[in-house]
Amino acid sequence: MKLDSFRIARGQRGVSNSVLLGLVVVVALAAAGATALLTNIFDRKQEAKTTTTRLVEVTEDTTDPAQWGVNWPKQYGSYKLTAERTSTRFGGWGGGELVTPQRLDRDPWLKKMFLGYAFAIDFRDRRGHAYMLQDQEATQRLTKPQSGSCLHCHGSLMPLYRELGGGDAMKGFEASYKYTYKDLNKKLHDMGHGRGVSCPDCHEATTMKLIVTRPGFIQGIQRLANSEALTPFAPSIERWRASGKAKPYDPNTDATRNELRTYVCAQCHVEYYCSTQMPLTFPWGKGTNATQMETFWDETKFPNGDAFFDFKHAETGAAIIKAQHPEFELWSQGVHARSGVSCADCHMPYMRDGATKVSDHWVRSPLLNINRACQTCHKQSEEEIKTRVDLIQQRNYDLMQRGGVAITTLIDTLKAAKAAGATPEQLKPALELQRKASWRLDFIASENSMGFHAPQEAAKVLGEALDYARQGELAVVRLGIATTKVAAVTAPVTAPVTAPEPAQAPIKKP
Ligand code: HEC
Ligand code: HEC
Ligand code: HEC
Ligand code: HEC
Ligand code: HEC
Repeated sequence: MKLDSFRIARGQRGVSNSVLLGLVVVVALAAAGATALLTNIFDRKQEAKTTTTRLVEVTEDTTDPAQWGVNWPKQYGSYKLTAERTSTRFGGWGGGELVTPQRLDRDPWLKKMFLGYAFAIDFRDRRGHAYMLQDQEATQRLTKPQSGSCLHCHGSLMPLYRELGGGDAMKGFEASYKYTYKDLNKKLHDMGHGRGVSCPDCHEATTMKLIVTRPGFIQGIQRLANSEALTPFAPSIERWRASGKAKPYDPNTDATRNELRTYVCAQCHVEYYCSTQMPLTFPWGKGTNATQMETFWDETKFPNGDAFFDFKHAETGAAIIKAQHPEFELWSQGVHARSGVSCADCHMPYMRDGATKVSDHWVRSPLLNINRACQTCHKQSEEEIKTRVDLIQQRNYDLMQRGGVAITTLIDTLKAAKAAGATPEQLKPALELQRKASWRLDFIASENSMGFHAPQEAAKVLGEALDYARQGELAVVRLGIATTKVAAVTAPVTAPVTAPEPAQAPIKKP
């Protein structure tokens, strides 16, 4: 931050001053001892800055954000605002106070797609970070047995991992999936850490440097680093590969500060597998796009040797892979990622506080904050920027709704053929196509930007979903079994679909 303002100020001084500055530098270089002294004083000053402002000592085990808030009141103040209700056309949350609106009611094809899995029981809008633990504790998905791994992204649980692993968080993490959600959640509360994401999850307590703490992410990003996939969005991985890979890739030492401004979010906003069957897994061993992750899952085996799947579809029997909020992965395929624009650039933009800049810890939709989130880079008017986002999201929404009709038709067609006596062997190709279509449609539906994070990639994934769903339907129809029954469910889709109005007018920060 300091360096940036120095550069800008110097740039404005013009040529003659630059020359002067050059002379000063030469003189300073000659007086090497003086320079060393200056550097030393500078370092001391920086140290003083971080230590003297500390009224309260905090450590990696201080998960209570209020303690940190004594030292860093601005950041804490904005962090607390994640409890505020905000909503945009597709983001945030409207509706009731206790729980957010049911996504299964808004898009019934989601329920159809998830039949046989806990997601068909309860799948709601997300909301601010302040609610992450309580919303998890309240979901009806917990009526099915769930793993302790669920807490990886909903609790401030590094002290718990350290305790489980006798001081070694990675060991604790690897043991945690075998616990039931109920038991591990109780342990977390008993230890006094029963709260959502907190300061030590993203900051190193002594230096306030950004760090990643989540073992699932660390293993996942190492898998990605060790893969052959191109990673233009993570230049430090490409540097690590070129340097000969002497030590395992370590995001906390190898990644740049800018990359960490994305990685801290990618600890949670990602596709994952979570159950008591195997440790929490981020599927990045082939790369981070939808096809690469599908390949990873297709090649994954459970510890007992069975082929990987999340659930068997209740009506067709297809072995389905469930996609989960792949924000990091979709972002990784877009032009912002390629240009080095991080999650924090848009979701935690700087606010001015007198002479200093403070990162807005009110993590929320950037559309509530276009001025600071987008106009720092884009010079168009707020209205124009909003319209551009709206167009991207509307197109994505329309294509996704068509996908919803297509997958419903495929499932109904399979069901009709089964009822008419088709054998599992005959239906196998169509069931595999259901798996592919479902994964892709779910990928974009469960991603939370309505296509914005990488519009063209989102359209590609949806295009493939539609194609696989219709190929599956065709494969069943071609069997020639009870074609009248099957044909009855394959009505043409012509009606345009329109996006919903916002649940309430967007709330802006005053
Ligand atoms: C170039 C700006 C930009 C970047 C970079 C970006 N996002 Fe977003 N994000 C958006 C916009 C715009 C939306 C749509 C918000 C809306 O519909 O209200 C969004 C939506 C979201 C949402 C849903 C928000 C809500 O209100 O429900 C989440 C979660 C999210 N992004 C996470 C991430 C993560 C994690 C990253 C980094 C891997 C990231 N974003 C990178 C601009 C960005
Ligand atoms: C420890 C896991 C975790 C981390 C780290 C994390 N998030 Fe989240 N995030 C969540 C969960 C869980 C929710 C949903 C909470 C709920 O619905 O109760 C959420 C919700 C959101 C939302 C929706 C907010 C709204 O008002 O609707 C946005 C936007 C978001 N996160 C962006 C980010 C960004 C950007 C980062 C990195 C700076 C980040 N998150 C880091 C777990 C995390
Ligand atoms: C890898 C990180 C991660 C893990 C593991 C995880 N979640 Fe989440 N969860 C998130 C993020 C990020 C969000 C916010 C984005 C969204 O809602 O799509 C979220 C949102 C939610 C929500 C609110 C929206 C909804 O889906 O109704 C619930 C409830 C929830 N998770 C429950 C669970 C349960 C139960 C488990 C274990 C089976 C679990 N989570 C495991 C990251 C995770
Ligand atoms: C989800 C991750 C996350 C959490 C949780 C989080 N921060 Fe941050 N914080 C960031 C990011 C990203 C930055 C920007 C860092 C950078 O650009 O180097 C930041 C920057 C800061 C800075 C440096 C000055 C500034 O504003 O840029 C301070 C101080 C800070 N945070 C304090 C806190 C405190 C106190 C808490 C808890 C109340 C907290 N943070 C919680 C991600 C987080
Ligand atoms: C740190 C700089 C930066 C920020 C912040 C930023 N952008 Fe961008 N944006 C870029 C760059 C760079 C490109 C690529 C332009 C190019 O290379 O021609 C881009 C491209 C785009 C595009 C066209 C590409 C696409 O994906 O469709 C849209 C739309 C866009 N940005 C919207 C937004 C919105 C909305 C926000 C705020 C939520 C935002 N940007 C924030 C730098 C930024």
